[in-house]
Amino acid sequence: MPIYLKNVCFTYQPDSPFQNQALNGISCTIHDGEIIGVTGPTGAGKSTFLQLLNGILKPTAGEVEVDGVVTSQLKGRALVNLRQKVGLVFQFPEDQLFEVRVFDDIAFGPRNLGWSEDKVKRAVQWAMDMLGLDKDEFQDRSTQELSSGQKRRVALAGSLAMRPNYLLLDEPTAGLDAYGRQLLLALLRKLNREYRTTVVIVSHRLEDLAAVCQRLLVFQAGQLALQGTVSGVFGHQEALQEVGLQLPPLNELLWKLKAYRPEIDPTVLTLEEAAGEIERAFEVYFQGGPEDV
Ligand SMILES: Nc1ncnc2c1ncn2[C@@H]1O[C@H](COP(=O)(O)OP(=O)(O)OP(=O)(O)O)[C@@H](O)[C@H]1O
Ligand SMILES: [Mg+2]
Repeated sequence: MPIYLKNVCFTYQPDSPFQNQALNGISCTIHDGEIIGVTGPTGAGKSTFLQLLNGILKPTAGEVEVDGVVTSQLKGRALVNLRQKVGLVFQFPEDQLFEVRVFDDIAFGPRNLGWSEDKVKRAVQWAMDMLGLDKDEFQDRSTQELSSGQKRRVALAGSLAMRPNYLLLDEPTAGLDAYGRQLLLALLRKLNREYRTTVVIVSHRLEDLAAVCQRLLVFQAGQLALQGTVSGVFGHQEALQEVGLQLPPLNELLWKLKAYRPEIDPTVLTLEEAAGEIERAFEVYFQGGPEDV
């Protein structure tokens, strides 16, 4: 079932001199089985939004409904169950490893859910496989001796081991090199396709979101400035610029070329499609093959 947000507001430290309204009147739906990107400038409310989806925070007004249940009504065990169902991976999760053994760190969440040790073992094995962590090589190693990339994989395995239906990730590609980013995005695609996990990714990098997401939510100052398909949102170049977001270089280039050739579609998402747009618009220059250009 989807997650519905109905006119959600959230204020930090209400009724104090430090009162800060982080979200103001958010209404949207996270559909079952989609990969959705959340973007916006710093301080726009993205991390607050994620924490509202899994019940860490509860709206100060409005409702968040997950699988037919309104989060503000949940307490105790029901809240723990919600957090199993909606897994949240914080930014730089590798800083939050605290068990000594890799196995125990990944097993921490499942054990907390009261699963049998047999079920825990199977869940850890599956999560390590998903993250490409060889069990024999890694399970007994000390978390503190791992590289930061390995630590991040262990932290992600810990979230996956709880088998969430929804996986929320806050800036998951921050600090990764190009190869690490590709591996992570491929993992999210696989989780979505093969295990029907609904994935919500917060990122400033629109090219990362364009590579995996079907839809985007754009936050600005606690409100939804834009939402729609990735191409639909990329069609609002000026609005994105006003919010302080930069389109992927490919789309920036197409927008520039569109000034000369209005028939160009600057919202395409792949290199092949972009090449097709350029070739079609500048056909006259391409006639006769590359040597004549
Ligand atoms: N614990 C807190 N107490 C008070 N205000 C907070 C707290 N956490 C966040 N805020 C404020 O709420 C607003 C939204 O913050 P949030 O962290 O959700 O933004 P963000 O879009 O995730 O930003 P970033 O891109 O920098 O991570 C900001 O004005 C921020 O200063
Ligand atoms: Mg944030």
